[in-house]
Amino acid sequence: MTFSSLLSPLSTSTLHDRLRPEIRALQPLLVQWRRQLHQQPELAFQERLTAEFIAEKLREWQIPHETGIAETGIVATLTGTQPGSVFAIRADMDALPIQEENDVPYKSQHDGKMHACGHDGHITIALGTAYYLSQHRHFKGTVKILFQPAEEGPGGAKPMIQAGVLKNPDVDAIIGLHLWNQLPLGTVGVRSGALMAAVEVFRCTILGKGGHGAIPQQTIDSIVVAAQIVSALQTIVSRNVDPIESAVVTVGEFHAGTACNVIADSAQLSGTVRYFQPHFDGFFPEKIEQVIAGICHSFGAAYRFEYSQYYPPTINDDRMANFVRSIAEKVIETPLGIVPNCQTMGGEDMSFFLQEVPGCYFFLGSANPERDLAYPHHHPRFDFDETVLAMGVELFVRCVEQFDQEWVMGNGGLTANRDAGGC
Ligand code: NI
Repeated sequence: MTFSSLLSPLSTSTLHDRLRPEIRALQPLLVQWRRQLHQQPELAFQERLTAEFIAEKLREWQIPHETGIAETGIVATLTGTQPGSVFAIRADMDALPIQEENDVPYKSQHDGKMHACGHDGHITIALGTAYYLSQHRHFKGTVKILFQPAEEGPGGAKPMIQAGVLKNPDVDAIIGLHLWNQLPLGTVGVRSGALMAAVEVFRCTILGKGGHGAIPQQTIDSIVVAAQIVSALQTIVSRNVDPIESAVVTVGEFHAGTACNVIADSAQLSGTVRYFQPHFDGFFPEKIEQVIAGICHSFGAAYRFEYSQYYPPTINDDRMANFVRSIAEKVIETPLGIVPNCQTMGGEDMSFFLQEVPGCYFFLGSANPERDLAYPHHHPRFDFDETVLAMGVELFVRCVEQFDQEWVMGNGGLTANRDAGGC
């Protein structure tokens, strides 16, 4: 995806043309909230100031809410003018252990921590949506707004689900967005099926036998064994995965040795695995260990192996993806505004919500290279074009206002897309 092919020639004000005046008018307030949140980033499950900021606003607007869910999570509940379906919106709250390098007045005031993924924007958009809906209840049913901790790991979605946030009243469908600097301002990335990948991690220690670098015959060289393993792991995807499908096995760490003339006793490897199709669940740990065990055996080495499955793939329900796309088409008017080809091997714990109820997670383009706001997520100079904030609110508000009709039309027929796997 190149910017040149997607660059929007539209000015900031034009991008707000299709927004209703009341939401357009919220923009200065949204910027103020976002900048305040940006200055006080907090890591996973430590989002106390952030939660206090959210709760204070909800109290001020008299929106019923529950705090302290999965440590720092919050659920706000709004009801429309008539009974109807139950719709949920999810926003993640946590920041990253990164030292901010941006020189802006709203720079992070917490040393070594930074909102470098845009979650400050997600909170702001969800708060703007809550505020607007509290003032304009032109919708049927109930909306639950879920402020979720720890998306960057170890994950707050699962404990929130376990705490019952999708129950009482039971949520019919859920949406969420990620501001996305891989896409320019004025675009929405939305697709049916898999949007983001499963995230799994392996760690392995090769246990050889150390010795003198000049007397290898008395040793089992853990570096040589580990090097064979790194090479062989590259064949897992290329020789075992259907080329029509896709997966990644990356060895990201290789630590061994202390001196040039010493044969290393042990070597440590770690890496990550990504895939879209749920049928790969359980495939990689077995295959990776098989490769490690086989190579270690042939060299007479031993090994320790650990494997963690963090997040499943983020899979959108077909009808919910179409629903979000139809809303986005009304809000985004650039010619290439809707980008269907927007899959990424990044991961998201929104996936756990999408396993429970039908839903759609989508990207809202937030980069503006002309203003030097196009650094990738998790970069110390990441920042996004704040024009996107009011656009996010308009998208969420329209989804809320139209969801009940969509739900009734489908006769409750949306299905949780647990096994869809992107067809
Ligand atoms: Ni993120």
